[in-house]
Amino acid sequence: MRKYYQFAFTILMILGLLASCSQDEKKYRIGVSQCSDDIWRDKQNSELQIGAYFHDNVELRFAAAYDSDERQIQQIDSLVATGIDLLIVAPNQVSTISPAIDRAYDKGIPVIVFERKTNTKKYTAYMGADNYEMGHLMGEYVASRLNERGRIIEVMGLKGSSPAIERHNGFREAIAQHPGIQVVATLQGDWTEPTAYNTVKQWLDKNKDSGKIDLVFGMNDRTAMGARKAFEEAGGALPLFCGIDGLPGENGGIKLVLDSLLDASYIYPTHGDQLIQLAVDILEGRPYEKETNLMSALVTQDNARVLLMESEEIMRQSHRLEQLNEKASQYQNQLGNQRTLIFVALAAIFLLLALLVGIYMYYLQRARIQDERMQMEREQLDFYTQVSHELRTPLTLIQGPLDQLLRTNDFRDASDNARELFSIVRRNTHHLTALVNKMLDAQVGIHNPKMSSAEVDAITVSQPIAVPAEVPEQDEDAPTVLIVDDNADIRAYLRSILQSKYSVLEAEDGRRGLELAREHVPDLIVSDVMMPVMNGLEFCQQVKKDVVSSHIPVILLTARALEKHQIEGYESGADAYITKPFSPELLLARIDNLLQSRHQLKDLWGMKPATETVAAPAAVVVAPAPAPIEDAFIARFKKIVEERLPDSNLSVEDLAAGMGLSRVQLYRKVKALTGSTPVDLLRKARLAKAQTLLQTSTLSVSEIAYQVGFASPSYFTKCYKDEFGTAPGEARKS
Ligand code: FRU
Repeated sequence: MRKYYQFAFTILMILGLLASCSQDEKKYRIGVSQCSDDIWRDKQNSELQIGAYFHDNVELRFAAAYDSDERQIQQIDSLVATGIDLLIVAPNQVSTISPAIDRAYDKGIPVIVFERKTNTKKYTAYMGADNYEMGHLMGEYVASRLNERGRIIEVMGLKGSSPAIERHNGFREAIAQHPGIQVVATLQGDWTEPTAYNTVKQWLDKNKDSGKIDLVFGMNDRTAMGARKAFEEAGGALPLFCGIDGLPGENGGIKLVLDSLLDASYIYPTHGDQLIQLAVDILEGRPYEKETNLMSALVTQDNARVLLMESEEIMRQSHRLEQLNEKASQYQNQLGNQRTLIFVALAAIFLLLALLVGIYMYYLQRARIQDERMQMEREQLDFYTQVSHELRTPLTLIQGPLDQLLRTNDFRDASDNARELFSIVRRNTHHLTALVNKMLDAQVGIHNPKMSSAEVDAITVSQPIAVPAEVPEQDEDAPTVLIVDDNADIRAYLRSILQSKYSVLEAEDGRRGLELAREHVPDLIVSDVMMPVMNGLEFCQQVKKDVVSSHIPVILLTARALEKHQIEGYESGADAYITKPFSPELLLARIDNLLQSRHQLKDLWGMKPATETVAAPAAVVVAPAPAPIEDAFIARFKKIVEERLPDSNLSVEDLAAGMGLSRVQLYRKVKALTGSTPVDLLRKARLAKAQTLLQTSTLSVSEIAYQVGFASPSYFTKCYKDEFGTAPGEARKS
């Protein structure tokens, strides 16, 4: 049982594991380390996220360092520690962040450096726009915008960051080609608007009389706008302002150009989705470009409107994409929940089934144990029954003959001493019988109410050692008793008890008993139960089934004293059940009683007989109702008799043949059931019919005599007179 539950539990665990596995496929964890947090980074992060939506198995982990080297180093290290599969990093400054990136790379984590550079080659791929080119193009634009003449200020990005360095180099190289353009000041910023504002304000404060400034180049749009704010505060004619980034949206560079707050900007591409694709290609081992240069374009008054419209459209689309993704993830969540629910339901059903099977198995096991126990009890009981049978039979054969001996004349003359010795033997035989009974009672734990040891004692021990009268001679018409027992001594003993009153037949087993019962149709059968070939119960059933013998009372005489054995006996159709050792008086009384009570049907033709021919049964005996098999027999017999009544040659043989029996069988059966012989009954039937005809017809007495099967009217008249006490003519008159 315990093994079964262990098995069920294991199955459940496997199911659980399978369910969790199916939900938890391998995910790529990509760490994104941003140097700053601003609208350019926001745009890129959301593009990264949208890019990730296209890959079910990508999970992004963002970190922003807010322009702090220390913070970015720490963030890279902790991203690596959480077990990312790939690192995307925009290093704040070239030299400071490189060691942290190298550490990640050395751990075998692929690294994509984007937009800003490091000073080592320890990265898997680089993606970004060409900042030198960007600075150079801006220099060319400025020169042409100012018609090769003018004074300008350059406000730099964060010192040490690669875009600041490269943009500066490109810008200055382009400007150097235009001698009419003079760079009045190169101020240090850090990509933020407040720093640009402060630096420019300080410069303006210090250089109030430096003369007119025609253009300020801020290295990004925020820097350009910070400078513009400082100039606006200082008052006077405003120079032109140029920046870089050219972001879409309300505060983006494109709108600023369109609103003429900036003169020009340069689109600094974010391309987050492209970055994710590159990362997945690397992770999945597909070929990829080690260096990707992102293309870009200048934003001026001429193209700002178109670019803004386009970028707004793109933003709208990505917004929709995001909504779609939200929906998709909602569905995915629902799906996940449903899957969990299904699993829980399946697990519950499985548990329930397992429980039911368990309960079923438990009951099976219990029933098996119960069966085994009952089987053992049965075997034990059979053993004790057998043993007691073995003991009871010799006990019967000691006790019975001894009792009989004590009643004979020989014993009357015995000495006192001999009588005393016999008395001791007799007492101890009874005592032994009582012990056998007790042993059996104790074994089954029941008290047999019919024949307990106490009762056996009462019946047997209390018998006085009296000398009985002489055994009378048996008369010719004595009823026949068939004894069926495999023990020859028992048969001999029974014969010795019965032969004075009955004609005795003997059979050594049930089969032989049946043969004798059919052949002789005895008046009563006394049978043992435990016998070879055919036991007493089956024998009894067969007797009761056969129409020839069904009416014969059967007494089962057996050592099987238990109540359940007696019930078995009665169920097989037995009329009485007497346990061994038995008292001869009890047996004789029971036989007598059964023979007395059997003549149930005496007046088949409803006649008032003149004289009683059969002895009336003892007043105390209540005749049992005839069994259906006897009813049917009698009904058939009456029918055949009535049909063939007019035939004066009708013999008992004819009647027997009509009933499918031998003459003896019919005679014995009819005699047993009615107390009359078939010939008597035939005569009575004829006379009854004649009586009816005398009273209801105008036929003459002679005619009636012939009609009811009398060969001569004078014999009819004689018989009629014998039966009814009056002559047939008299009956007609009355
Ligand atoms: C955003 C930003 C941009 C600039 C770039 C340089 O964080 O400051 O404005 O163009 O970084 O790396």
